Amino acid sequence: MNIKKNKIIGPKAYIDLDVCRSNLSAIKKRIGGRKLLCVIKANGYGHGAVQIAKAIENFKNVQFAVFSFEEALELRNSNIQNDILVFSRMQSQYIKLAYENNITLNISAIEDIEEINSYFLLNGSCPRYHLKFDTGMTRLGFDLTDASMIYGNLNKNIVKYLEGVYTHFATADEGNLSYAIRQLNNFKKVVEKADEYGIKFKNIHCSNSGAIINIKDSYFNMVRVGMLLYGALPSNEVKDNIGIKPVMSFYGSIVNVRKVKKGTHISYGGVYKSTSETNIGVIQTGFADGFPRPWYNDGYVNYKGKNYKIAGRVCMDQLMIDFGKTIPIVGEDVLFFGENEFGKIKVETIAENINSTAYVLLTSIGGRTKYIYVNQ
Ligand SMILES: Cc1ncc(COP(=O)(O)O)c(C=O)c1O
Repeated sequence: MNIKKNKIIGPKAYIDLDVCRSNLSAIKKRIGGRKLLCVIKANGYGHGAVQIAKAIENFKNVQFAVFSFEEALELRNSNIQNDILVFSRMQSQYIKLAYENNITLNISAIEDIEEINSYFLLNGSCPRYHLKFDTGMTRLGFDLTDASMIYGNLNKNIVKYLEGVYTHFATADEGNLSYAIRQLNNFKKVVEKADEYGIKFKNIHCSNSGAIINIKDSYFNMVRVGMLLYGALPSNEVKDNIGIKPVMSFYGSIVNVRKVKKGTHISYGGVYKSTSETNIGVIQTGFADGFPRPWYNDGYVNYKGKNYKIAGRVCMDQLMIDFGKTIPIVGEDVLFFGENEFGKIKVETIAENINSTAYVLLTSIGGRTKYIYVNQ
């Protein structure tokens, strides 16, 4: 069988922007009128940061957060006007660009305050910034015990540019929330301490997807959200109580079908052996495109509503499927994860099976994958 002309062959990620918008509405319903800081770092968790931003930029009270300064510039250069916070450690070389592009910086060390202050003294203004406290993640952020010293160092010049205060949960998506509650209580103390210095925060935020579902008391006046926006759950210990749907459906094309005899070894290592005469399809997608390689052990794909086993090890560019008695059509696609009119496979199911997470799987998509945006 030939592949028909003009077919897009290979890995494809369909991104349904209407689904993203409906996830956003569901999240907004959950958190009331609070501001929402939509996390679109790592190319919008593999969905396309600019396209996701453009799909939701006009929702009320929506701001964006990215990790790297370059990610923020990409959004500004694509004409995104919403506030953008950069999570990464502040680098002095970006202060000027941040000011010029109205990008909000993360201040998480005393040296960052000094740099911002020096910039102000030279230029009479500086970029806006959020203060980050570390309450238990042991990543970026001021120590809680340094709160007084930090607040004391925010002189009246630069305090004008203070936009917010935040921290990050380590365990808000777990069944046992005691550590997260301890983090929350410590964060509350540090926020309250600012009163003693006459410091008011415009934005106070610590919730992530896990906390949106699990810890209503953590919402303050701003909520950060990543994974729920893309329609997946942050962990298998969290239940969807807001009604989200997957934004991405990931497919690969059938490029060859061959009938093989019982006992035929398939793919590297020959670890898969057909148990009867069967149709083996070759799918043009491999681990270099972000397909999760360990999924071959128990994994399957969906073709027209039926699941078929992955036959043998996933290769760099291709993988094989045992279609049994079904003769699939060359040029058509199989669904790896997401959903269509025939069926669905949750990215979370794959993640759980291979001891990974939806975060890893979604942000790994790439290589030769073509992105197709639906309902722009
Ligand atoms: C600082 C920070 N806030 C919020 C998020 C969003 O988390 P989630 O995708 O679980 O909502 C992340 C993601 O890793 C993060 O690093």
